[in-house]
Amino acid sequence: MVNVEKLTNKKLAIELKPYCDQNHVKTISWLNSEDIKNTFGLTYHITVEQHDSWLKKNPNYLMWTINYKEVHVGNISLQINNRHHSANLQIYIGDNRFRGKRIGYHTMLLLLNELFTKSEINRIELCTLTDNKIAIALYKKIGFTFEGTHRQVIFKNNKYFDQYYWSILAEDWHDIRN
Ligand SMILES: CC(C)(COP(=O)(O)OP(=O)(O)OC[C@H]1O[C@@H](n2cnc3c(N)ncnc32)[C@H](O)[C@@H]1OP(=O)(O)O)[C@@H](O)C(=O)NCCC(=O)NCCS
Repeated sequence: MVNVEKLTNKKLAIELKPYCDQNHVKTISWLNSEDIKNTFGLTYHITVEQHDSWLKKNPNYLMWTINYKEVHVGNISLQINNRHHSANLQIYIGDNRFRGKRIGYHTMLLLLNELFTKSEINRIELCTLTDNKIAIALYKKIGFTFEGTHRQVIFKNNKYFDQYYWSILAEDWHDIRN
């Protein structure tokens, strides 16, 4: 239902490219960095082998690299639910020198536009930790709707953390853009 193809915003020099094995090393270093672990509530260290085998066992998990001026700066991924025409989205600008330059915002617009105009995807959902102000600002700015709080859903460092849930529907996207 969704094809992982190259998507480009030429004017802004942002390109989303299909993720491949050559991207593993950089990706794993980001996923194991403290700031990405903290923002996603990850509690364990991931190896290249675990990541590789997980991707191969999960054909409905689709991934693109985010490239800015030809530099791989982050990743965006979807866990697709074909039955319900929905997907769970994750994004990170792994290289923190490239944060705050609107790359996240334009990457989201590029992918959401593709999904809502060229595929059957009807709903995109995602979650944020409650203190991730930048991600919350980003999703609000795009037009995501707040759906509620999952209380104490993460257990990390002997503490429980809440998560906020957000979604955007195809009809929201068309309303916002028209
Ligand atoms: C969250 C993330 C993807 C946002 O991408 P980004 O390219 O850094 O953000 P953008 O530059 O597109 O900014 C989008 C909005 O976020 C807010 N924002 C961005 N940087 C900010 C900062 N330093 N302080 C406060 N708000 C900020 C602003 O509202 C901004 O909109 P504006 O430029 O119109 O003011 C990126 O910062 C990131 O990867 N962070 C670490 C991982 C993460 O938190 N992923 C999301 C998990 S839910």
